[in-house]
Amino acid sequence: MSENILIELKGLTKRYGYGDTESYALKDFDLTIKRGEFIMIMGPSGCGKTTLLNIIGLLDRASKGEYILNGENVAGISARRQAKLRAKKIGFVFQNFNLIEDLTVIDNVALPLVYTGYSKTAQLKNASNALKRFHLNEREYYLPYQLSGGQQQRVAIARAIVGDPEIILADEPTGNLDSRSSHIVMEELKAIHEEGNTIIMVTHNPSLTSYATRVINMLDGQIDTDVKTVADANLPQPISVKIKKRKKVEESEFVSMPTDEIKKEPTEEEPTEEDESKEPAKPKKKRKKSKNNKKDRRNK
Ligand SMILES: Nc1ncnc2c1ncn2[C@@H]1O[C@H](COP(=O)(O)OP(=O)(O)OP(=O)(O)O)[C@@H](O)[C@H]1O
Ligand SMILES: [Mg+2]
Repeated sequence: MSENILIELKGLTKRYGYGDTESYALKDFDLTIKRGEFIMIMGPSGCGKTTLLNIIGLLDRASKGEYILNGENVAGISARRQAKLRAKKIGFVFQNFNLIEDLTVIDNVALPLVYTGYSKTAQLKNASNALKRFHLNEREYYLPYQLSGGQQQRVAIARAIVGDPEIILADEPTGNLDSRSSHIVMEELKAIHEEGNTIIMVTHNPSLTSYATRVINMLDGQIDTDVKTVADANLPQPISVKIKKRKKVEESEFVSMPTDEIKKEPTEEEPTEEDESKEPAKPKKKRKKSKNNKKDRRNK
């Protein structure tokens, strides 16, 4: 198996009901996704797009078939392990933002980190960094209703990326936005993709497909057309390489790294007390390529 393959779906079927009421949301669905792809999924209402995204996101299970994620068949694993994988590898963006209305913006963004072993301070620092990226740090203590739709969706994207997942799943992320806000959200997703993340996005808007490296049209639970607009060789650098590099830095900086994957120590994504007292756009030393550095460059 090529090491660049992130996801393989084989004969995936999702059936609802039995007998006379039996219907299929997905039917013998096969799909191979490489790291660094930006896939847009289109198709008429009811053709199975959300069902597909929910299964890829480990929010739902197929009735039949294999789902291989990073070489492991995850279709039959326990709900607990699915939840763990989901928290570590997958970020979600939904059409209606799905922010918790009585939590502040920063607490919403920190939510995916709650069960990762980060201290509360580290959770909030990471959330704050993610919000800075979207120029929303001045609104950290607002409640969602005090933000525009476009701002709420950017908060939702900050929440999706705060745990540094490899895969971003977006179900009609611009469906509730005006064209200007849609454009801003798409530019953010494009930047996240260029950093090596894999994005799978459902949309009804054909004009957005210019952002994708591959466009899949679905019909009745199956693939109707599948067009790659960027050759595999030209996809952004896979994030797995970045993870390897990052681990090296962590190991040299923190002498006693816990081996348990969910017991994370603060990473370079978190500012130190010293960093906080400095200009955010001036890192104190040359650092390896990271999301923050990219953000810094874009802000210049
Ligand atoms: N819980 C359920 N029980 C029964 N049928 C369901 C259920 N969830 C989805 N379906 C059916 O599965 C099919 C696919 O639904 P899905 O939500 O994936 O469509 P979609 O392509 O996302 O549509 P839309 O563009 O309207 O969001 C539909 O026919 C739907 O009615
Ligand atoms: Mg849907």
